[in-house]
Amino acid sequence: MAYNDDCFLVPGPVRMNDACLQAMATPVMTARGPEFRKVMAELNSGLRYAFNLSPSSPEMKTQSWTGEDGYKVVVVTGSGTAAMEMVIANRFRQNDLVLVPTNGKFGERVAHICEQFCNVKHIKYDWGRSFDLYELEQQLERGCYEALLICHNETSTGITQDAEAIAEICERYNVSFILDGITSVGGMPVHPAKWKAEAVVMGAQKCTAGPSGIAAIAVNEHCVERMKAINLQNDTNPRYYFDMIAALKNGDDDQTPWTPAINLAMGWAAALNTLKEETNEVRWERCKRLASGVRSLFTELGFMLLADSGQQSNTVTAIMYPEGINDEWRSALKDKYNTQVIGAQDHLKGAMFRVGSMGETPVEEMVEGCKRMIACFNDFGMNLPEVDVESHFL
Ligand SMILES: Cc1ncc(COP(=O)(O)O)c(C=O)c1O
Repeated sequence: MAYNDDCFLVPGPVRMNDACLQAMATPVMTARGPEFRKVMAELNSGLRYAFNLSPSSPEMKTQSWTGEDGYKVVVVTGSGTAAMEMVIANRFRQNDLVLVPTNGKFGERVAHICEQFCNVKHIKYDWGRSFDLYELEQQLERGCYEALLICHNETSTGITQDAEAIAEICERYNVSFILDGITSVGGMPVHPAKWKAEAVVMGAQKCTAGPSGIAAIAVNEHCVERMKAINLQNDTNPRYYFDMIAALKNGDDDQTPWTPAINLAMGWAAALNTLKEETNEVRWERCKRLASGVRSLFTELGFMLLADSGQQSNTVTAIMYPEGINDEWRSALKDKYNTQVIGAQDHLKGAMFRVGSMGETPVEEMVEGCKRMIACFNDFGMNLPEVDVESHFL
């Protein structure tokens, strides 16, 4: 993707390509006619690809939302948080108990959403520290949990959880596994079927470089059965707009229960076509190349990374500011160098910055952005050693 001198290196929303922007400028169409059903079918099929599910046809009236593996994809009007809320509100009853380990802001948000709809055991690890899998296993051994939920890729701290190992523990103890994959799906390997994940959520504006305000959920057959059973028993949490039963009724017809975000859906379908052309594997590899370059460059320059080594994310890197530097550096980077990275949240505000390596960001943009970051640190009196930036991204 082309960039015009502005280096936009934030962990979402990311830059949208021309095909996506142009698709969103399509003139109005009705929500219920064949024109939009075609869009939905294309979007569903693209989502199945991004979620790494078995393929479906992008043609309408072909059950584009489902496939051989039994998963269904459901498009949600709203950002990723809305989609997480939809899963949690429909999947659990107020008396259910779920386990939510966290090591950053978005995991904590998963726990807080759960608190609205069921009982939660929230195990809070320090931000950026790995989960203690032995502790999680001991919890599940107690036999009282309905599900374990994680934020797979913790964007606030740049740590990726070992989903495969957690999935194995969940399977051993027969506990449902649900993931916020908002900054992992499309940017790194995610295997819903292999991990037997009941539900995975993604947001358009992150690794798939779609527009903000639309998200999607992949649910397996067990999840659908449980949601339907809870609904039949009249034991559901209060919800209306986010009623999954209503969404499931409309899926076979390439439809949504309420007026869909028509133009956003068109833009996202176009962005997913770009992903298909690049392929998941090549995109995962590019994101990894970008992130490992940032990690090795800034480590060589003497900076500290927040996340535990071995689990550092390939879609976002959290880098501690050296002594004496704060977010004024970020403002200068934007104003003087036309380069954007993002700051930290909550108690780490002003203590670090985060570099996104997701979506369609080309390697040249990251290399150029890193050179400008170094120049801007030097403006702030750091006197960093000369380094060959390109060599970190080979
Ligand atoms: C991992 C993760 N989960 C959840 C969210 C919230 O998503 P949204 O802002 O799309 O509601 C974000 C946003 O940055 C995120 O990175």
